Amino acid sequence: MLVKKLKETYESMDQQNICIQGWVRTNRNSKAVGFIECNDGTTFSNVQIVYSTDLENFNEVSKITLGSAIEVEGTLVLTPQGKQPFEIQAKKVSVLGLSEHDYPLQKKRHSFEYMREIPHVRPRANTYYAMFRLRSVLSMAIHTFFQSRGFVYVHTPEITGNDAEGAGECFTVTCRKDDQYEKDFFGKHAQLTVSGQLHVEPFALAYRNVYTFGPTFRAENSNTTRHASEFWMIEPEMAFADLSDDMDCIEEMIKYCIQYCLENASEEMAFFEKMIDKDCIQRVTKVMNSHFKRMTYTEAIEHLKEAKDQFENQDIFWGMDLQSEHERYICEKVVNGPVFLTDYPKDIKAFYMRINEDGKTVAACDLLVPYVGELVGGSQREERYDVLVNRMKEMNMEQETLQWYLDLRRFGGCKHSGFGLGFDRMLMYLSGVQNIRDVQPYPRTPRNLVF
Ligand code: 4AD
Ligand code: MG
Repeated sequence: MLVKKLKETYESMDQQNICIQGWVRTNRNSKAVGFIECNDGTTFSNVQIVYSTDLENFNEVSKITLGSAIEVEGTLVLTPQGKQPFEIQAKKVSVLGLSEHDYPLQKKRHSFEYMREIPHVRPRANTYYAMFRLRSVLSMAIHTFFQSRGFVYVHTPEITGNDAEGAGECFTVTCRKDDQYEKDFFGKHAQLTVSGQLHVEPFALAYRNVYTFGPTFRAENSNTTRHASEFWMIEPEMAFADLSDDMDCIEEMIKYCIQYCLENASEEMAFFEKMIDKDCIQRVTKVMNSHFKRMTYTEAIEHLKEAKDQFENQDIFWGMDLQSEHERYICEKVVNGPVFLTDYPKDIKAFYMRINEDGKTVAACDLLVPYVGELVGGSQREERYDVLVNRMKEMNMEQETLQWYLDLRRFGGCKHSGFGLGFDRMLMYLSGVQNIRDVQPYPRTPRNLVF
C-alpha cells in the first residue's frame, strides 16, 4: 500500500494488516525493540515501523543499514499521542536491497557541496527530496496556469541555427560518426537554443496565446549562485498584447504559482521554512497579496545615484547595464518586494525589443525580486518591419538567417509581447535555497559536470 493513501485513510484502518515498501531513513534499536523510519517515496514524511524480538529475523532487521530497500507487513496502530498519527507494528520485515557500507548519506547533516558530488543519491536526502517534488509541482502549476487560460503549449527546438538573444554565448553542435567529428550539424552551423522565443513567436501569430517550457543553454562563463549553463525557461508569447499586458500576465502567473505550491506542496514548503529560510511561507504569501511595483530604468538609475557610496568603485550613469548588486539594491532596499524595471536603454537589450517613442529606450521589463535578483525578462516585440531591419543593421546582425523572423512582420504581423521566467530561479525564490546547483536534479554549471 502507498503511504500517501494510508495517510488519507489511516483513521479507519486501526489494527488492520498492511504491507508497504520503501527505503530506510533511520534504524535504531535496543535489545528487545527497534524503530525504522521508512519513506516509500509517496509523501514527504516517513512512517515509523516498530519491531521486536517477536520477529524471527530480529537480529538481521536490527542491522538493516540506511538507504536499504525493505518490505514490511504489519498492523497499523493509531498513535494519537505520538509525533505521527499512526505507526506500523511489524510482523514481517524483508530486505529487498541492502545498502552497502559506503552508502554516502549517513545520519548527519551533509554540506551542499558534498551533496552536489552525489546527484544519484541526493534525492533521498530531505532537502533535495523536498526540492525535486516542489520542482514537479511547480511545473504542473505553470502548465495549469497557462492551459486554463487557453494558451497552447509549443515544443520549440533545442537545436537551432539562431542565437535568439544575440549575446554570442552558446554551445555549438558537433556530429560524431564512426569516430569522425564534424564541427557542424550535417554541413550547417547549429547550436543549442538560448531561448525558445524566436521559434514561439510564429505560433503566437497563429494561436494568439502560446507558451514554451523547456531547457535552454547558455555558455556564459559566470560562476555565480544564479547562473547555470543549462536551465529551464517558461516563455509565453501573446498576440495583441503590449508591455503592460505582459507585466499583468507575469504578476498573475507568479501569484498563481505561489498559491499552487503552497496548496500542493505544503509539507515541502513547511520543511523549507523550518530548515532553509525561516520565513519563506510568510514571504511568498506576502508577495501573493501584494501589488508589484513598476519603475522605469531611468528612475532606478536616480535611486542608485543617491546610494552610489554603497557600490564600490563603480560609476552610476544612464545607459549602464545593471549588475546584480544594483538590482538587489532596488528590490531589497528601495522597494522591499518584487519590482518591474521598464524601458531600458536599447543598447543594453536584445534586437527584437520594440523601440519607444524617445528612440533611446525599449519596451522591456525585468522583474526583480529580493534574494534572487532578475526572475523574469520580457518585452513588447518590434513588429515594424523597417524599424526591425534598421535595428539589426545598427547591431551588425546578419539578416539572412533571420529573414523568416522578419517575414512574420510582413505576413499579418501585429503588436505582440512575451517574457521568459527562469524556472530554476523561481524555485530558489519559493524555497529560499540560495544556490541554483541545489534546485536542479543534475546541475550544469561551468566546471561542474558530475555525470
Ligand atoms: O532575460 P533572458 O535572457 O530573456 C530571454 O531569454 C528572452 N528571450 C525571454 C523572452 O522574452 N521570451 O532570460 C529570461 C530569464 C531570466 O530573467 C532569468 O530568470 C533566467 O531566464 N536566466 C537564467 N537562469 C539560470 N541561469 C542562467 N544562466 C540564466 N539566464 C537567464
Ligand atoms: Mg534578462
